[in-house]
Amino acid sequence: MTSISVIGCGYLGAVHAACMAQLGHDVVGIDVDERKVASLQEGRTPFYEPDFPEVLTRALETGRLTFTSDMSAARGRSVHFVCVGTPQKRNEYAADMAYVDAAVTALAPFLSPGDLVVGKSTVPVGTAARLAEQVREVQPGAILAWNPEFLREGFAVQDTLHPDRFVYGLPAGDDGVAARARLDEVYATPLAAGTPLVATDYATAELVKAAANSFLATKISFINAMAEVCEASGADVTQLADAIGHDTRIGRRFLNAGLGFGGGCLPKDIRAFMARAGELGADQALAFLREIDSINMRRRVRMVDLAREVCGGSIVGRRVAVLGLAFKPDSDDIRDSPALNVAAQMRLQGASVVVTDPKAVENAQRIWPDLTYAETAEEAATGADLVLLLTEWKQYRDLDPTAFGSIVTQRRILDGRNALDPAAWRAAGWTYRALGRP
Ligand code: UDX
Repeated sequence: MTSISVIGCGYLGAVHAACMAQLGHDVVGIDVDERKVASLQEGRTPFYEPDFPEVLTRALETGRLTFTSDMSAARGRSVHFVCVGTPQKRNEYAADMAYVDAAVTALAPFLSPGDLVVGKSTVPVGTAARLAEQVREVQPGAILAWNPEFLREGFAVQDTLHPDRFVYGLPAGDDGVAARARLDEVYATPLAAGTPLVATDYATAELVKAAANSFLATKISFINAMAEVCEASGADVTQLADAIGHDTRIGRRFLNAGLGFGGGCLPKDIRAFMARAGELGADQALAFLREIDSINMRRRVRMVDLAREVCGGSIVGRRVAVLGLAFKPDSDDIRDSPALNVAAQMRLQGASVVVTDPKAVENAQRIWPDLTYAETAEEAATGADLVLLLTEWKQYRDLDPTAFGSIVTQRRILDGRNALDPAAWRAAGWTYRALGRP
């Protein structure tokens, strides 16, 4: 058992802290936000994530997990995970490192010789080396490692307890050997289950994360670029994706064409990566990511154009039902959500928009209070001239087109996620249109 502190109890940190307690470690989660701390300590989760409430409750019950806003609780513990956010800077592509810097500055005075500080946040390459220096200046005996996190929202618990791989960015020499041994102890259970491990230097570990997210974003924008060509030529992007996905070198996953990627990671991470490459004089190498970003943003505009097209040239005054606001299903996260962006564009362009989402309504209301919110898909669609499916929650995929058809004014549906069966909806009398399909 290792005595651990987790600094930053947002999405990444809260799940990491609870999962480390589940692995048998003694964990304190530390966050400056006292309300968040109080909520977690009472077993209430500040965001929606499947399985997390159960893991949190169980961990609290064992007594191996506590939360506090007092950084001195890190004193005497031997491994300190830094899990704070690195959001995009306002009006810039670069990542805002203020939270990481503040966390390490606040933690350093409580470190003892031999302690291990483990960065998990997604950071520009070069950060770990800089922070290692900063830590050493305050506590020369402490070691820093970089251990990027690859968890997906909606699968955060599973991805933390059963990751695809571990990546350790380690310092050279004895410090690196000691850091690796300590991390191996912390992750003993998943390592014993055969989780692959790549142990490398700081810069490579930092770049693994940026490269992985860039590759995923590229895969999505690639298929969305194909969707544009399919739209221009009358081809079907879903069949195209199935066919190329059978090639095991390509693979079918992350080839779902539609509204594109959003969320708190992929969009800001590819932008921060471009910004950092620019600083390093390698901007040409990542120039393609600008194109990946713009293909992605074009999908949102295309969705609104398609709505206008099926409404006979104008959406002004049309009753539009929007199903889904979260950036993906099984999440209440609306950061950079393509669905919310399309709903807002439609509203700004004069449509009468009623939106709904199983989990994200409260978050959406905070930034778009003047959209009209409904509890259910049925409530949103009553009297609608047009239905937009923008986040593919299971309950929307399972809608019965016949019953649903009886509550709308016009049976017109745009499938922004290629999640519905066109034949079933057309058979029920709907005009069905989707991105990248004839
Ligand atoms: C992502 C990475 O997957 C994860 O490894 C990293 O740690 C954080 O960023 P996440 O943002 O939770 O995770 O969501 P992900 O499942 O990757 O989806 C990102 C976006 O891409 C969503 O908006 C999703 O709807 C979209 N997407 C995904 C597609 O449009 N098509 C696809 O085929 C897959």
